[in-house]
Amino acid sequence: MKENLSINLKNTSKFISFEEIVAHAQQSVRHLDNLNAGVGPGNDFLGWLSLPDDILVQLEKIEKTAKHLRSVSDTTVVIGIGGSYLGARAVVEALSHSFAPLLKNNHHDVIFAGQNICEDYLSELIELLDGRNYSIVVISKSGTTTEPALAFRILKDHLEKKVGKLNAAERIIAVTDAKKGALRSLAETNGYETFIIPDNIGGRYSVLSPVGLLPIAIAGIDIRTLVKGAKSMEEITRNNKHAETNPSLLYASARNLLLQNGKPIEIMVGFTPKLHFFSEWWKQLYGESEGKDGKGIFPASVDLTTDLHSMGQYIQDGQRILFETIISVKNPVRKLTIPLEKDDSDQLNYLAGKRLSEVNHNAELGTTLAHTDGNVPIITITIPALDEYYTGQLIYFFEMACAISGYILDVNPFDQPGVEAYKKNMFALLNKPGFEEAGKKLKERL
Ligand code: PA5
Repeated sequence: MKENLSINLKNTSKFISFEEIVAHAQQSVRHLDNLNAGVGPGNDFLGWLSLPDDILVQLEKIEKTAKHLRSVSDTTVVIGIGGSYLGARAVVEALSHSFAPLLKNNHHDVIFAGQNICEDYLSELIELLDGRNYSIVVISKSGTTTEPALAFRILKDHLEKKVGKLNAAERIIAVTDAKKGALRSLAETNGYETFIIPDNIGGRYSVLSPVGLLPIAIAGIDIRTLVKGAKSMEEITRNNKHAETNPSLLYASARNLLLQNGKPIEIMVGFTPKLHFFSEWWKQLYGESEGKDGKGIFPASVDLTTDLHSMGQYIQDGQRILFETIISVKNPVRKLTIPLEKDDSDQLNYLAGKRLSEVNHNAELGTTLAHTDGNVPIITITIPALDEYYTGQLIYFFEMACAISGYILDVNPFDQPGVEAYKKNMFALLNKPGFEEAGKKLKERL
């Protein structure tokens, strides 16, 4: 039988007992029931629950489009922000060669844009694209988000000048709402191929829809196995009312009990740089889902052992308001053994013959013990390997736990009213029609 993702709560026991966690998780089954019955807050955004099945009919079209873009170009620029960006980037970075953009042979580069408004970033990207044969995938559910809309306006203009309007239209794909939004109209006017983001799937829960799967497939990653992994986690969590064997219920309960025990900050920890953007995706998922009504656990992240030489000091010794969630990957994909050196001038011969992963694993164990001694509770999520299947399991596991955790906190985990505040101010300061009065008032405050 195939191994599954597992959760280890041993290193939270100084603060909360396993029995307490299981009892809390058993009580939280009602939140799982509410999700499945579609009767909790945000119940019009539950399409992600059954995505591992619902997406199957679209996989062929996604793969076909990915193949087309890979055959007509050497680079795809994926434009999007927030939920229309982070899931794809998380999976692409986790499962691609660490130096993918620098590899010369037979490679298709996936580059991200529209996730900032930095003039230098986009100018330098254009400089790069001058010498590339590229395509564009533009992703925006609303079709009106300023950052991706601006990047698309600029890059579309660049591509049309480079290859002509007709050729450009053949290599621009839009992923957006079925009917509304400026991107939908643009796609229809220009004849771009489109994929639909269903109404009942919010941005941060959309990685297993075309929002995530199209860029992931373009990067050459096996999306069928990714979805299969997610499906297996749906089977483990969605209808499992036996809390002790439901990792999403256990995780949601453990982190809420830690919050109640004076730990309002959760740090996601990876021991491979490949998980850097997975942590970014997780931060958005939890930050945007829980941080409202004056509530929520603040999600942060570190890449270890890199950040042990910076943030490690605070985690070990600073304010005791933190807990950590480690994503532990049992086996690397590749193999590298430490060589023996005759004169041992660097005094590393005691490691000779060992795999680098053994050293990394011991760094992980050493860190876990040190942080536990320093009163930082640790939840460990283990996967056998960082591959398509287990990345799919991780995605569904965290999505399910996030929804349950939001219900435990008594917030709507599927809305994000707070992100509007900066947008209104930006529009007013930039004199967007309709915002003139607000603009005048804001400018007086500057
Ligand atoms: O999770 C969310 O809903 C947000 O992060 C959105 O994905 C983000 O704001 C981008 O929105 P859109 O896809 O409408 O451009």
